[in-house]
Amino acid sequence: MAIRTILNESDEQLHKICRPVTEFGERLWQQLDDMAETMEQANGVGLAAPQVGILRRFFVMDVGDGLVEAINPMIIAKKGTQEGTEGCLSSPGKWGIVERPKKVILKAQDRYGKEFTLSAEDLAARCICHESDHLDGILFTQKASSMLEPDDR
Ligand code: NI
Repeated sequence: MAIRTILNESDEQLHKICRPVTEFGERLWQQLDDMAETMEQANGVGLAAPQVGILRRFFVMDVGDGLVEAINPMIIAKKGTQEGTEGCLSSPGKWGIVERPKKVILKAQDRYGKEFTLSAEDLAARCICHESDHLDGILFTQKASSMLEPDDR
């Protein structure tokens, strides 16, 4: 495994729409392993492929319930709303208030291409929405109703 460089929000790769994953093999597994290690080292709860310069539709997350690898993810249901503070490893030092669904159902493939669904709420739902947005080139700063001053959080 290896630590990958996390791109800053100003990098144009973070503003592009990513393509689906079509090959489920060693190359993808290496990328997933590297991303999990990179996320952990950066104390993040989620990391999307474009944040490390891979313009493909997948992300990793760990909000404390174990590692989730979501390939070609789709949010197939949303319920309720939650408002909360959000940040991003690509926007160091920035925090903002973002409204997200309270609950989501995620449909995705695992690293072997097998489909699964995951029901998530609260932080996990927020993270799934945030990481899914990255795959469409959308950053939380574009969705925040307000940004916090560095000392506010
Ligand atoms: Ni992010």
